[in-house]
Amino acid sequence: MIAINDLQKTYDTGSITVEALRGLSFNINKGEFVAIMGASGSGKSTLMNLLGLLDVASAGTYILNQTEVSALEEKDFARIRNKEIGFVFQTFNLLPHLTALHNVELPMMYAGVKLAARRERATLLLERMGLIDRMHHYPNELSGGQNQRVAIARSLANNPAIILADEPTGALDSHTSLEVMDIFQQLNLDGTTIIVVTHEENIAQHAGRILRLSDGLLIMDDIVQEPLDAGQALSSLRKEAGSI
Ligand SMILES: Nc1ncnc2c1ncn2[C@@H]1O[C@H](COP(=O)(O)OP(=O)(O)OP(=O)(O)O)[C@@H](O)[C@H]1O
Ligand SMILES: [Mg+2]
Repeated sequence: MIAINDLQKTYDTGSITVEALRGLSFNINKGEFVAIMGASGSGKSTLMNLLGLLDVASAGTYILNQTEVSALEEKDFARIRNKEIGFVFQTFNLLPHLTALHNVELPMMYAGVKLAARRERATLLLERMGLIDRMHHYPNELSGGQNQRVAIARSLANNPAIILADEPTGALDSHTSLEVMDIFQQLNLDGTTIIVVTHEENIAQHAGRILRLSDGLLIMDDIVQEPLDAGQALSSLRKEAGSI
């Protein structure tokens, strides 16, 4: 599904050039759950921006679903991004003046889905995220975990094949982080390809594979033999809480 070869990204900011990615090569198959780890500044977000078609590489190739990305025109970028890829960010990136429902509807509006159909799907997605009683709330009326679930519902709006999440649990406590990882594991079971950037080793252990970056290079590509089950971890936490 994703094949990158010798991918490079150099940022030119006036006097300084930063080689953020210095030649990455790897493939990701449909249905994989991949965590990307690495120190601050190692190039994780840069890579996510390239994978998500939010930015273009300086050199190398990126093939997404058999399409060579550098051969695409700007209008194709937006169309593929909106249809194939769902984004989840550390700070949620919800629009503050829109309710949860309207935030989830927005990508469908851009995709030209009619009001009744997008309202129905947004409601269904919020229901799946356990937020049916919060759908008319604004982001500042919701907790961090609730906002992240709204953001995940929004990322699913156009039924993407890939979810790209850049530190989705970075602003959440450990319990809420598990809830988010549980949602990703469920989505992955349904066939969605998931790529998550994280600083936390225990979060990465919920994925099936860990790519480690250092200074713009891929230094390790590990299969996780037995990924931690976030749902199981949550239910044992609940049992513990109940027994106190
Ligand atoms: N828009 C930009 N212009 C110039 N340099 C940039 C830009 N974005 C990132 N960089 C530089 O590229 C390098 C990689 O940055 P990137 O944001 O990809 O790191 P990261 O691994 O996501 O770090 P963090 O864990 O702190 O989020 C850093 O040295 C950063 O300063
Ligand atoms: Mg980053």
